[in-house]
Amino acid sequence: MGLVHVQNVMSNELAKRVFFTRPPEPPHEFLLNDPTNSIFIGITKRFSVPFTWTFANLTNPHLAVVGITGSGKSFFVKTFLLRANYIWGTNAIIVDWAGEYKSWVKQSGGTIVSLGKGDYINLMDLSGMKPLDRSKQIMNSLDILTDLQGFPEQRRLTAEAIEQSYVNAGFALAAVPDPNKDAPTLKDVSRLLEEKLQEGTYEYPAELENAVYRLRQFSREGQDYFARKSTIDLAKLSSSGLVDIDLSGLPDEKFRALAAFFILQTLKEKMRAEGWSSAKGLKAIIVLDEAWKVASDDRSDAITIIREGRKYQFGLIVASQNPTDVNEAIFSNVGTTVMLRIRFEKFMDYLQGSLNFSNFIRGEIGKFGVGQAAVDLSFQTSIQFPSVFVIDRVVGEVPLDVYTITLINVLNEDEFGDKELQKEYYFEKISLSSKFAENNLDVEVADRIFKAMEEKNRSIDIRSLAETMRALNISKDIVIKFFRSLGIPEKIISRIFASIS
Ligand SMILES: Nc1ncnc2c1ncn2[C@@H]1O[C@H](COP(=O)(O)OP(=O)(O)OP(=O)(O)O)[C@@H](O)[C@H]1O
Ligand SMILES: [Mg+2]
Repeated sequence: MGLVHVQNVMSNELAKRVFFTRPPEPPHEFLLNDPTNSIFIGITKRFSVPFTWTFANLTNPHLAVVGITGSGKSFFVKTFLLRANYIWGTNAIIVDWAGEYKSWVKQSGGTIVSLGKGDYINLMDLSGMKPLDRSKQIMNSLDILTDLQGFPEQRRLTAEAIEQSYVNAGFALAAVPDPNKDAPTLKDVSRLLEEKLQEGTYEYPAELENAVYRLRQFSREGQDYFARKSTIDLAKLSSSGLVDIDLSGLPDEKFRALAAFFILQTLKEKMRAEGWSSAKGLKAIIVLDEAWKVASDDRSDAITIIREGRKYQFGLIVASQNPTDVNEAIFSNVGTTVMLRIRFEKFMDYLQGSLNFSNFIRGEIGKFGVGQAAVDLSFQTSIQFPSVFVIDRVVGEVPLDVYTITLINVLNEDEFGDKELQKEYYFEKISLSSKFAENNLDVEVADRIFKAMEEKNRSIDIRSLAETMRALNISKDIVIKFFRSLGIPEKIISRIFASIS
């Protein structure tokens, strides 16, 4: 027997012997912070250290979250917002492009602002800002969203009419406004331009006509989402707990972007006006999820918030499937990047190029399951260790998914007042799944039924549910058995099947 012998060792075993390589995780003192002043995210994969997030030693409090669809971006954001609120009392404003946070915000007791579905914002609201500054911001948004900049005469006419409308409403352009006075709306601006056109004395009537036409897109009846008195108090936006600005009810991307730009402008002004405070943690977090236009344009206030947020304790979270859609100035300046599963090589190249992580980490990111993440922290001081590490899974704190089945539209009039009769049935996803399984419905069919319920905001009436199931070729007998297992009264079941086959 010799003194030296060769062992067979798997390469992943070798990698665990940290003395062979540089340590693959930041030292624990950088990951594990005071739990009363930081946000728990998950356990690191290599050394099982609980990673708690704080921005105290990072370059800034902003985060970028990237990953393919279904990788867990929104889940991470929700978990983060809930814990930030719990630890620091942080307010959150979600610019919700697709309305995907709505039901969660509702369950969490937050406020939902549904633009295009009953809620309005007046683009000319001042919330403490001088009319001159607000006028410039409105013009800035129009420049980004329309080709107005290519038509200097029309641009000038519009800007002038906006300012004139403030004056007509009794505001001084360069003064801090009286908060009790109502701001004019874009309808007033349109009207001024139309009157000017009717006077017929203007030198370039075609330009004026076009300016009128452009503005009408935003002020005509039915499309006046931003040209009516605001249904929310914009001055309180950053101090109202959890607020979801649901943009999914607006007709197109232009309207959604206009709303998002406006919200960012308002929040930026608010942030500056409030100034610095000695409060620990973050005062407010603004979330942009898939708002690529707003996150990519150089003139967006997302960039100003990134630059100035730290000193005012305002954080920005940008979530996107495509990291190249996020403006460089944002991407290269966030203090924290959370990388969930990435599939496309070009996105991986981009991330690896800007964050400079090893091929080992790159391989891991490509294989991640839902909720697994690599995190890059950008520390204020120079460090002697790699800044990217892997966490086993984002440990969630999201309320369980609840689905509602209502009987409302199958009840007879006299049954409405019947206290014994349950009118809505609530199920957690997991219990509904097991009911499907008990009734021998396979996973694929169950998924399609869940999908149909998702489309109706997780609240479906019993008749539509029956129709959906029949359309999926589930036999009448099984649907009836399923309904019975949910506890739906017999008379309701027979009533439904009296009207559908
Ligand atoms: N860390 C996690 N633990 C448990 N479940 C998770 C986790 N992350 C995500 N999920 C679940 O996986 C599903 C997809 O997650 P999520 O909606 O966050 O994906 P996404 O990246 O935002 O996708 P999209 O780009 O389509 O919006 C959700 O049902 C969510 O509850
Ligand atoms: Mg999402």
